Amino acid sequence: MESNNLPIHIAIIMDGNGRWAQARGLPRIYGHQEGKKNVKRIVRHAANLGIKYLSLFAFSTENWKRPKEEVDGLMEILKVGLQEERPEFIREGIRVVFFGDRTKLPKDVIEEMELTESSTASNSRLHLAFAINYSGRDDILRAIKRISQKVADGKINIDDINNDLISKELDTKDFPDPDLIIRTSGELRISNFYLWQSAYSEFYFTPVLWPDFDEKALESAIEAYQSRKRRFGGI
Ligand code: FPP
Repeated sequence: MESNNLPIHIAIIMDGNGRWAQARGLPRIYGHQEGKKNVKRIVRHAANLGIKYLSLFAFSTENWKRPKEEVDGLMEILKVGLQEERPEFIREGIRVVFFGDRTKLPKDVIEEMELTESSTASNSRLHLAFAINYSGRDDILRAIKRISQKVADGKINIDDINNDLISKELDTKDFPDPDLIIRTSGELRISNFYLWQSAYSEFYFTPVLWPDFDEKALESAIEAYQSRKRRFGGI
């Protein structure tokens, strides 16, 4: 893998934990535990490669439809994962942020999120975002409401609304648009992840299940990205 022409922002739809567990005759939550271990491995490798921004889709606004036991298990994994990894984030210079509507999350999870954000706020080696209770449509919807409120309050005019202003109202406002979006486990869709932000992203799909998506797999995705010609609508 060449270290020039790296994607600045990589976003990953971490799919296939359930199937990883089922293939071994284990409950689905074991797959999420393995998925968490892989988050650690991939975050560390991305930082070492010099990736500046990494987004991980950890829980979508649609995931509440899963059995309560699985949702509770995922929330526990998140909470404990943040508790355990916070010292490493601080030590490794990783700034952690969370995208999504956090008002509907359990209080103890929100506390861990806020503590992780505040204790890593001055870091900049890698900017790491976890999308939790996030969806692209919900992000856009919340932005539209805030913009509408500003118009209603007379703070901006309708003609002030442009692409830039919309980008600045999204949860992702401090992140550049993703250069590369990876989805594991063989599904070929975006599933309501970064809709606005993916306008010019390169997509990479792999059949590898998320717990098995290792350092080499990440490098293969980056190599595929490096071989593409991006024209952004030009020629
Ligand atoms: C998709 O697999 C994965 C999820 C819905 C959860 C992802 C969460 C983690 C990897 C844990 C993150 C941990 C931290 C600390 C941020 P799936 O359940 O849809 O798999 P399937 O398609 O095989 O059923």
